[in-house]
Amino acid sequence: MKKIILGLLLLLTLNLASCETKQNTITVLTSSGYEPYEMIDTDGNLTGFDIDLMNALADELAIEIEWKDVAFEGIIASLQSGQAEIAIAGISPTEDRKENIDFSEIYYNSDVGLTNFLVFKSDQAIESLNDLSGLVVGAQLGTVQATLLESIHEEYNFIVDLRNTNTQIVEEIKADRIDVLVVEKVISDSILASNNELKAVGFESHLDDYSGNAIAFSKGSPYVEQFNSALQTLRDNGTLDELINKWFNT
Ligand code: ARG
Repeated sequence: MKKIILGLLLLLTLNLASCETKQNTITVLTSSGYEPYEMIDTDGNLTGFDIDLMNALADELAIEIEWKDVAFEGIIASLQSGQAEIAIAGISPTEDRKENIDFSEIYYNSDVGLTNFLVFKSDQAIESLNDLSGLVVGAQLGTVQATLLESIHEEYNFIVDLRNTNTQIVEEIKADRIDVLVVEKVISDSILASNNELKAVGFESHLDDYSGNAIAFSKGSPYVEQFNSALQTLRDNGTLDELINKWFNT
């Protein structure tokens, strides 16, 4: 009898211990295929600016994180439904999104509110939005670029075709199924760096609440404040600038 009780106690403690480790591990959503923010390296691991930054923040806060690489389109909904609590994916903290989820302070300014880029095959004569008439223009599903295209396609008379990843759209541009991809500057730079048959031109976007990237949280999450103060620490001690130089100053 004693043995049984001891055994049960042991089981109970083991169980509690495993619950505790689980509690200290939080799942962080990201969406790879967005170089240099997040991509998969040759060993199949997540790498990039957001990955380094989140790992540094987690170290600072002594939290264990578990990465989950998902489709960008599902991220906001997952946070909203409480399936996940944190996401870092080059996310623009727009007013619309703020109705459903919370954001940290901005950690990097990408200027997507002012300028976005049209990426297309070099043999196309495209200089501005006015040259898009009759063309098929793509963007990643669920992004501010997708929203932007939906809001201007009638005025400029183009067809909007959205896909889960920018990589997929680049492939379809090469295969002549899509004419143009719309992305922010650093993404277009990195796409051009590995596709010399493509070129890009910037255009004014007039979306003043779209600039900058922030970490996203489910609404009311206690992590918002913790991450903001960790972010401030990394700003003060130079780590944030180091990471920006590492990933963006090529
Ligand atoms: N900044 C844009 C947005 O928030 C695009 C982000 C796409 N991110 C990604 N990891 N694929 O809508």
